[in-house]
Amino acid sequence: MGQEVSSEAFDPSIPPAKLSRRDLRAVAELIKSGACKNVVFMVGAGISTAAGIPDFRSPETGLYSNLARLELPRPEAVFDISYFREDPRAFYALAQELWPGKFKPTMTHVFMRMFADRGLLLRCFTQNIDTLELAAGIPRDKIVFAHGSFAGQHCIDCMEEFDRKTLEEHVRSGTPAFCACGGLVKPDITFFGEALPPEFHGSLHLLEEADLAIVMGSSLSVYPFAALPQRIEEGVPRLLMNMEKVGEIGSRRDDVAWIGECDDGVRELAEQLGWWEEMEGIWKGLRGDVGPEKPGLSVDTLEEEVARLTGDVEKSLKVAEEHKAWVAKGLEREKERRKSIDEEVYGEGKAADDGLGHVFPHLKSKQ
Ligand code: OAD
Repeated sequence: MGQEVSSEAFDPSIPPAKLSRRDLRAVAELIKSGACKNVVFMVGAGISTAAGIPDFRSPETGLYSNLARLELPRPEAVFDISYFREDPRAFYALAQELWPGKFKPTMTHVFMRMFADRGLLLRCFTQNIDTLELAAGIPRDKIVFAHGSFAGQHCIDCMEEFDRKTLEEHVRSGTPAFCACGGLVKPDITFFGEALPPEFHGSLHLLEEADLAIVMGSSLSVYPFAALPQRIEEGVPRLLMNMEKVGEIGSRRDDVAWIGECDDGVRELAEQLGWWEEMEGIWKGLRGDVGPEKPGLSVDTLEEEVARLTGDVEKSLKVAEEHKAWVAKGLEREKERRKSIDEEVYGEGKAADDGLGHVFPHLKSKQ
Protein backbone atom coordinates (compact mmCIF):
# COMPACT_ATOMS: atom_id res chain seq x y z
CA MET A 1 0.00 0.00 0.00
CA GLY A 2 1.16 3.51 -0.62
CA GLN A 3 1.76 6.36 1.65
CA GLU A 4 1.55 10.13 1.44
CA VAL A 5 4.86 11.90 1.68
CA SER A 6 5.45 15.53 2.37
CA SER A 7 7.84 17.68 0.40
CA GLU A 8 11.11 19.03 1.62
CA ALA A 9 10.47 22.20 -0.38
CA PHE A 10 7.18 22.91 1.32
CA ASP A 11 6.32 23.72 4.92
CA PRO A 12 3.84 21.00 5.89
CA SER A 13 2.44 23.15 8.69
CA ILE A 14 0.84 25.42 6.05
CA PRO A 15 -2.66 24.01 5.50
CA PRO A 16 -3.86 23.21 1.98
CA ALA A 17 -6.27 25.67 0.38
CA LYS A 18 -8.60 23.50 -1.74
CA LEU A 19 -8.12 20.14 -0.06
CA SER A 20 -9.13 19.39 3.52
CA ARG A 21 -5.90 17.43 4.00
CA ARG A 22 -2.99 16.34 1.85
CA ASP A 23 -4.06 12.76 1.31
CA LEU A 24 -5.98 10.49 -1.06
CA ARG A 25 -9.16 10.65 0.99
CA ALA A 26 -9.21 14.43 0.67
CA VAL A 27 -8.75 14.16 -3.12
CA ALA A 28 -11.70 11.72 -3.23
CA GLU A 29 -13.80 14.15 -1.17
CA LEU A 30 -12.99 16.96 -3.59
CA ILE A 31 -14.01 14.87 -6.61
CA LYS A 32 -17.20 13.75 -4.83
CA SER A 33 -18.09 17.36 -4.06
CA GLY A 34 -18.43 18.00 -7.81
CA ALA A 35 -15.65 20.58 -7.80
CA CYS A 36 -13.59 18.69 -10.41
CA LYS A 37 -15.06 18.74 -13.89
CA ASN A 38 -11.87 19.09 -15.92
CA VAL A 39 -9.48 16.45 -14.74
CA VAL A 40 -6.11 16.06 -16.47
CA PHE A 41 -3.99 12.93 -16.24
CA MET A 42 -0.29 12.79 -17.06
CA VAL A 43 0.97 9.26 -17.21
CA GLY A 44 3.99 7.13 -18.08
CA ALA A 45 5.25 3.58 -18.34
CA GLY A 46 4.59 2.82 -14.64
CA ILE A 47 0.83 2.55 -15.30
CA SER A 48 1.43 -0.38 -17.65
CA THR A 49 3.88 -2.45 -15.60
CA ALA A 50 0.97 -4.34 -14.04
CA ALA A 51 -0.03 -5.31 -17.59
CA GLY A 52 3.35 -7.01 -18.02
CA ILE A 53 5.17 -4.26 -19.91
CA PRO A 54 8.39 -3.16 -18.19
CA ASP A 55 8.97 0.53 -17.69
CA PHE A 56 12.18 2.15 -18.88
CA ARG A 57 14.14 3.38 -15.90
CA SER A 58 13.30 1.21 -12.90
CA PRO A 59 16.59 -0.30 -11.74
CA GLU A 60 16.88 -4.01 -12.64
CA THR A 61 13.39 -4.43 -14.11
CA GLY A 62 13.36 -1.43 -16.49
CA LEU A 63 14.04 -1.93 -20.20
CA TYR A 64 17.03 0.39 -20.26
CA SER A 65 19.01 -1.60 -17.73
CA ASN A 66 18.33 -4.83 -19.60
CA LEU A 67 19.11 -4.18 -23.23
CA ALA A 68 22.74 -5.35 -23.10
CA ARG A 69 22.15 -8.17 -25.59
CA LEU A 70 21.05 -5.69 -28.22
CA GLU A 71 24.58 -4.28 -28.10
CA LEU A 72 23.36 -0.72 -28.30
CA PRO A 73 25.80 2.17 -27.87
CA ARG A 74 23.46 3.28 -25.04
CA PRO A 75 20.02 1.93 -24.01
CA GLU A 76 18.05 4.95 -25.27
CA ALA A 77 19.48 4.32 -28.75
CA VAL A 78 16.71 1.80 -29.32
CA PHE A 79 14.41 4.85 -29.64
CA ASP A 80 16.93 7.13 -31.33
CA ILE A 81 16.18 8.13 -34.91
CA SER A 82 19.85 8.39 -35.99
CA TYR A 83 20.62 4.96 -34.59
CA PHE A 84 17.45 3.54 -36.16
CA ARG A 85 18.68 4.72 -39.58
CA GLU A 86 21.96 2.94 -38.97
CA ASP A 87 20.55 -0.26 -37.56
CA PRO A 88 16.79 -0.72 -37.15
CA ARG A 89 16.98 -4.34 -35.95
CA ALA A 90 17.05 -3.60 -32.22
CA PHE A 91 13.92 -1.51 -32.49
CA TYR A 92 12.18 -4.15 -34.60
CA ALA A 93 13.02 -6.78 -31.98
CA LEU A 94 11.51 -4.58 -29.28
CA ALA A 95 8.50 -3.68 -31.43
CA GLN A 96 7.76 -7.36 -31.87
CA GLU A 97 7.29 -7.64 -28.13
CA LEU A 98 5.43 -4.38 -27.66
CA TRP A 99 3.07 -4.75 -30.64
CA PRO A 100 -0.46 -3.84 -29.49
CA GLY A 101 -2.99 -6.55 -28.83
CA LYS A 102 -0.85 -8.67 -26.51
CA PHE A 103 -1.55 -6.69 -23.37
CA LYS A 104 -4.67 -5.79 -21.42
CA PRO A 105 -5.42 -2.50 -19.67
CA THR A 106 -4.69 -2.19 -15.96
CA MET A 107 -6.91 -0.90 -13.16
CA THR A 108 -5.25 2.47 -13.62
CA HIS A 109 -6.27 2.66 -17.27
CA VAL A 110 -9.84 1.78 -16.30
CA PHE A 111 -9.76 4.38 -13.54
CA MET A 112 -9.03 7.08 -16.12
CA ARG A 113 -11.85 5.77 -18.28
CA MET A 114 -14.24 6.20 -15.33
CA PHE A 115 -13.58 9.95 -15.52
CA ALA A 116 -14.25 9.91 -19.27
CA ASP A 117 -17.51 8.00 -18.76
CA ARG A 118 -18.66 10.68 -16.30
CA GLY A 119 -17.68 13.57 -18.56
CA LEU A 120 -14.96 14.65 -16.12
CA LEU A 121 -11.90 13.88 -18.22
CA LEU A 122 -10.43 16.93 -19.90
CA ARG A 123 -7.38 15.08 -21.29
CA CYS A 124 -5.14 12.14 -20.65
CA PHE A 125 -1.58 13.08 -21.63
CA THR A 126 0.31 9.84 -22.03
CA GLN A 127 3.95 9.10 -22.84
CA ASN A 128 3.07 5.48 -23.46
CA ILE A 129 3.01 3.88 -26.88
CA ASP A 130 1.12 0.75 -25.88
CA THR A 131 -2.32 2.27 -26.66
CA LEU A 132 -3.80 0.65 -23.54
CA GLU A 133 -5.67 3.89 -22.89
CA LEU A 134 -7.67 3.19 -26.05
CA ALA A 135 -8.05 -0.47 -25.14
CA ALA A 136 -9.52 0.63 -21.80
CA GLY A 137 -12.24 2.56 -23.63
CA ILE A 138 -11.01 6.13 -23.26
CA PRO A 139 -12.20 8.02 -26.36
CA ARG A 140 -9.41 8.85 -28.82
CA ASP A 141 -10.16 12.58 -28.67
CA LYS A 142 -9.54 12.58 -24.91
CA ILE A 143 -6.02 11.15 -25.27
CA VAL A 144 -2.86 12.99 -26.21
CA PHE A 145 -0.21 10.50 -27.32
CA ALA A 146 2.70 12.77 -26.45
CA HIS A 147 5.33 10.32 -27.72
CA GLY A 148 3.22 8.96 -30.56
CA SER A 149 2.01 5.39 -30.62
CA PHE A 150 1.75 2.15 -32.58
CA ALA A 151 -1.53 3.38 -34.04
CA GLY A 152 0.01 4.44 -37.40
CA GLN A 153 3.15 3.80 -39.50
CA HIS A 154 5.10 5.84 -42.04
CA CYS A 155 8.30 5.93 -44.06
CA ILE A 156 10.88 8.00 -42.19
CA ASP A 157 12.10 9.58 -45.44
CA CYS A 158 9.15 10.36 -47.72
CA MET A 159 6.58 10.15 -44.83
CA GLU A 160 4.29 8.03 -47.02
CA GLU A 161 1.86 5.92 -45.02
CA PHE A 162 2.72 2.23 -44.98
CA ASP A 163 0.37 -0.74 -44.98
CA ARG A 164 -0.27 -1.84 -41.41
CA LYS A 165 -0.60 -5.55 -42.12
CA THR A 166 2.67 -5.59 -44.05
CA LEU A 167 4.47 -3.78 -41.24
CA GLU A 168 2.99 -6.21 -38.74
CA GLU A 169 4.41 -9.12 -40.77
CA HIS A 170 7.82 -7.45 -40.81
CA VAL A 171 7.69 -6.79 -37.09
CA ARG A 172 6.65 -10.37 -36.46
CA SER A 173 9.58 -11.74 -38.47
CA GLY A 174 12.01 -9.13 -37.12
CA THR A 175 12.93 -7.89 -40.61
CA PRO A 176 12.86 -4.12 -41.11
CA ALA A 177 10.26 -2.83 -43.57
CA PHE A 178 11.18 -0.49 -46.43
CA CYS A 179 9.00 1.93 -48.32
CA ALA A 180 8.84 1.99 -52.13
CA CYS A 181 11.22 4.99 -52.00
CA GLY A 182 13.79 2.89 -50.17
CA GLY A 183 13.32 4.59 -46.80
CA LEU A 184 12.87 2.68 -43.57
CA VAL A 185 9.39 2.31 -42.10
CA LYS A 186 8.59 2.64 -38.42
CA PRO A 187 5.46 2.93 -36.32
CA ASP A 188 4.48 6.52 -35.46
CA ILE A 189 6.37 6.47 -32.17
CA THR A 190 8.30 9.64 -31.50
CA PHE A 191 11.98 8.81 -31.29
CA PHE A 192 14.65 10.88 -29.61
CA GLY A 193 15.66 13.37 -32.28
CA GLU A 194 12.15 13.72 -33.71
CA ALA A 195 9.57 16.42 -33.10
CA LEU A 196 6.67 15.62 -30.80
CA PRO A 197 3.32 15.17 -32.57
CA PRO A 198 1.30 18.33 -33.28
CA GLU A 199 -1.48 17.05 -30.99
CA PHE A 200 0.91 17.47 -28.05
CA HIS A 201 1.63 21.13 -28.70
CA GLY A 202 -1.97 21.78 -29.70
CA SER A 203 -3.28 20.50 -26.37
CA LEU A 204 -0.97 22.30 -23.96
CA HIS A 205 -3.44 25.15 -23.42
CA LEU A 206 -5.83 22.65 -21.79
CA LEU A 207 -3.52 22.33 -18.82
CA GLU A 208 -4.57 25.81 -17.76
CA GLU A 209 -8.22 24.72 -17.67
CA ALA A 210 -7.60 21.76 -15.35
CA ASP A 211 -9.22 21.76 -11.91
CA LEU A 212 -7.42 18.59 -10.82
CA ALA A 213 -4.19 17.04 -12.15
CA ILE A 214 -3.16 13.46 -11.55
CA VAL A 215 0.35 12.25 -12.42
CA MET A 216 0.98 8.49 -12.42
CA GLY A 217 3.75 6.07 -13.31
CA SER A 218 6.34 8.44 -14.73
CA SER A 219 9.86 9.36 -13.69
CA LEU A 220 9.18 12.78 -15.25
CA SER A 221 12.63 12.68 -16.75
CA VAL A 222 11.91 13.28 -20.43
CA TYR A 223 11.19 16.83 -21.54
CA PRO A 224 9.04 18.57 -22.58
CA PHE A 225 6.53 16.13 -21.03
CA ALA A 226 8.25 16.33 -17.65
CA ALA A 227 7.36 20.03 -17.42
CA LEU A 228 3.60 19.53 -17.85
CA PRO A 229 2.72 19.44 -14.12
CA GLN A 230 4.31 22.87 -13.73
CA ARG A 231 1.85 24.27 -16.27
CA ILE A 232 -1.08 23.44 -14.00
CA GLU A 233 -2.37 26.69 -12.48
CA GLU A 234 -1.27 27.52 -8.93
CA GLY A 235 -4.04 26.61 -6.52
CA VAL A 236 -5.20 23.58 -8.54
CA PRO A 237 -4.68 20.31 -6.61
CA ARG A 238 -2.08 17.96 -8.08
CA LEU A 239 -1.88 14.32 -7.09
CA LEU A 240 1.14 12.10 -7.75
CA MET A 241 0.71 8.33 -7.52
CA ASN A 242 4.07 6.73 -8.19
CA MET A 243 6.56 4.24 -6.81
CA GLU A 244 8.95 7.08 -6.10
CA LYS A 245 8.76 10.78 -5.61
CA VAL A 246 9.37 12.59 -8.88
CA GLY A 247 9.34 16.12 -10.27
CA GLU A 248 8.32 19.02 -8.08
CA ILE A 249 4.95 17.67 -7.01
CA GLY A 250 4.78 18.31 -3.29
CA SER A 251 6.06 21.86 -3.58
CA ARG A 252 2.60 23.50 -3.64
CA ARG A 253 -0.06 23.80 -0.95
CA ASP A 254 -2.55 21.47 -2.63
CA ASP A 255 -0.12 18.83 -3.78
CA VAL A 256 -0.47 15.23 -2.64
CA ALA A 257 2.37 12.79 -3.25
CA TRP A 258 1.26 9.21 -2.73
CA ILE A 259 4.02 6.64 -3.03
CA GLY A 260 3.11 3.11 -4.05
CA GLU A 261 1.72 1.08 -6.94
CA CYS A 262 -0.77 3.15 -8.87
CA ASP A 263 -3.22 0.23 -9.15
CA ASP A 264 -3.42 0.25 -5.34
CA GLY A 265 -3.81 4.01 -5.25
CA VAL A 266 -6.62 4.07 -7.82
CA ARG A 267 -8.37 1.25 -6.03
CA GLU A 268 -8.30 3.21 -2.79
CA LEU A 269 -9.64 6.28 -4.56
CA ALA A 270 -12.29 4.30 -6.42
CA GLU A 271 -13.51 2.74 -3.18
CA GLN A 272 -13.86 6.14 -1.58
CA LEU A 273 -15.64 7.46 -4.64
CA GLY A 274 -18.06 4.50 -4.68
CA TRP A 275 -16.78 3.51 -8.16
CA TRP A 276 -15.01 0.32 -7.21
CA GLU A 277 -17.60 -2.31 -8.17
CA GLU A 278 -18.23 -0.75 -11.55
CA MET A 279 -14.53 -0.29 -12.16
CA GLU A 280 -13.67 -3.86 -11.24
CA GLY A 281 -16.48 -5.12 -13.50
CA ILE A 282 -15.16 -3.14 -16.48
CA TRP A 283 -11.59 -4.26 -15.77
CA LYS A 284 -12.58 -7.93 -15.60
CA GLY A 285 -14.63 -7.58 -18.76
CA LEU A 286 -11.69 -6.08 -20.62
CA ARG A 287 -9.32 -8.78 -19.47
CA GLY A 288 -11.57 -11.52 -20.79
CA ASP A 289 -10.11 -14.87 -19.90
CA VAL A 290 -6.59 -13.51 -19.48
CA GLY A 291 -5.77 -13.51 -15.79
CA PRO A 292 -3.68 -10.76 -14.19
CA GLU A 293 -0.92 -13.24 -13.44
CA LYS A 294 -0.32 -13.99 -17.11
CA PRO A 295 3.33 -13.16 -17.74
CA GLY A 296 3.80 -10.38 -20.23
CA LEU A 297 6.94 -8.97 -21.75
CA SER A 298 9.75 -9.76 -19.42
CA VAL A 299 13.23 -8.59 -20.08
CA ASP A 300 14.24 -12.24 -20.37
CA THR A 301 11.60 -12.73 -23.04
CA LEU A 302 12.99 -9.79 -24.95
CA GLU A 303 16.54 -11.04 -24.73
CA GLU A 304 15.43 -14.49 -25.82
CA GLU A 305 13.59 -12.86 -28.69
CA VAL A 306 16.64 -10.91 -29.83
CA ALA A 307 18.74 -14.06 -29.57
CA ARG A 308 16.10 -15.96 -31.52
CA LEU A 309 15.95 -13.33 -34.25
CA THR A 310 19.73 -13.19 -34.54
CA GLY A 311 19.84 -16.97 -34.54
CA ASP A 312 17.05 -17.11 -37.11
CA VAL A 313 18.91 -14.85 -39.52
CA GLU A 314 22.07 -16.93 -39.17
CA LYS A 315 20.06 -20.13 -39.50
CA SER A 316 18.27 -18.82 -42.62
CA LEU A 317 21.59 -17.94 -44.25
CA LYS A 318 22.98 -21.39 -43.44
CA VAL A 319 19.84 -23.09 -44.71
CA ALA A 320 20.01 -21.03 -47.94
CA GLU A 321 23.63 -22.11 -48.52
CA GLU A 322 22.81 -25.74 -47.79
CA HIS A 323 19.81 -25.54 -50.06
CA LYS A 324 21.92 -24.15 -52.92
CA ALA A 325 24.46 -26.94 -52.54
CA TRP A 326 21.70 -29.51 -52.34
CA VAL A 327 20.04 -28.17 -55.52
CA ALA A 328 23.38 -28.17 -57.40
CA LYS A 329 24.06 -31.75 -56.35
CA GLY A 330 20.54 -32.76 -57.35
CA LEU A 331 20.94 -31.16 -60.78
CA GLU A 332 24.16 -33.00 -61.33
CA ARG A 333 22.51 -36.29 -60.37
CA GLU A 334 19.54 -35.53 -62.61
CA LYS A 335 21.84 -34.78 -65.57
CA GLU A 336 23.56 -38.14 -65.08
CA ARG A 337 20.21 -39.92 -64.82
CA ARG A 338 18.89 -38.29 -68.02
CA LYS A 339 22.06 -39.09 -69.88
CA SER A 340 21.82 -42.75 -68.99
CA ILE A 341 18.10 -42.85 -69.94
CA ASP A 342 18.83 -41.23 -73.33
CA GLU A 343 21.58 -43.67 -73.98
CA GLU A 344 19.33 -46.55 -73.04
CA VAL A 345 16.55 -45.31 -75.36
CA TYR A 346 18.51 -43.95 -78.30
CA GLY A 347 21.73 -45.78 -77.99
CA GLU A 348 25.10 -44.62 -76.81
CA GLY A 349 26.12 -41.05 -77.71
CA LYS A 350 22.55 -40.06 -78.82
CA ALA A 351 20.53 -37.39 -76.98
CA ALA A 352 16.74 -37.01 -76.91
CA ASP A 353 15.69 -34.50 -79.61
CA ASP A 354 12.22 -33.48 -78.47
CA GLY A 355 12.83 -33.31 -74.74
CA LEU A 356 10.16 -35.90 -74.06
CA GLY A 357 12.75 -38.50 -73.57
CA HIS A 358 13.77 -36.94 -70.34
CA VAL A 359 10.32 -37.03 -68.90
CA PHE A 360 8.59 -39.94 -70.59
CA PRO A 361 11.37 -42.27 -71.70
CA HIS A 362 8.88 -45.18 -71.95
CA LEU A 363 6.81 -43.21 -74.54
CA LYS A 364 9.87 -42.40 -76.49
CA SER A 365 11.05 -45.94 -76.42
CA LYS A 366 7.69 -47.10 -77.87
CA GLN A 367 7.90 -44.79 -80.89
P1 OAD B 1 10.18 5.60 -16.65
O1 OAD B 1 10.60 4.19 -16.75
O2 OAD B 1 11.22 6.65 -16.83
O3 OAD B 1 9.48 5.86 -15.26
C1 OAD B 1 8.50 5.01 -14.76
C2 OAD B 1 8.11 5.50 -13.38
O4 OAD B 1 7.00 4.74 -12.94
C3 OAD B 1 9.19 5.35 -12.34
O5 OAD B 1 9.22 6.49 -11.52
C4 OAD B 1 8.76 4.10 -11.55
O6 OAD B 1 9.15 4.17 -10.19
C5 OAD B 1 7.25 4.23 -11.65
N1 OAD B 1 6.52 2.95 -11.56
C6 OAD B 1 6.83 1.75 -12.06
N2 OAD B 1 5.87 0.85 -11.82
C7 OAD B 1 4.90 1.51 -11.15
C8 OAD B 1 3.64 1.14 -10.60
N3 OAD B 1 3.15 -0.09 -10.73
N4 OAD B 1 2.91 2.09 -9.97
C9 OAD B 1 3.39 3.35 -9.85
N5 OAD B 1 4.57 3.75 -10.34
C10 OAD B 1 5.31 2.85 -10.98
O7 OAD B 1 8.99 5.79 -17.70
P2 OAD B 1 8.42 7.16 -18.30
O8 OAD B 1 8.47 8.25 -17.30
O9 OAD B 1 7.15 6.83 -18.93
O10 OAD B 1 10.33 7.84 -24.40
O11 OAD B 1 9.52 7.43 -19.42
C11 OAD B 1 9.37 8.56 -20.24
C12 OAD B 1 9.92 8.29 -21.62
O12 OAD B 1 11.23 7.77 -21.54
C13 OAD B 1 9.17 7.23 -22.39
O13 OAD B 1 8.01 7.70 -23.01
C14 OAD B 1 10.19 6.80 -23.41
C15 OAD B 1 11.40 6.74 -22.54
O14 OAD B 1 12.59 6.97 -23.19
C16 OAD B 1 10.41 7.51 -25.69
O15 OAD B 1 10.38 6.39 -26.09
C17 OAD B 1 10.54 8.67 -26.60
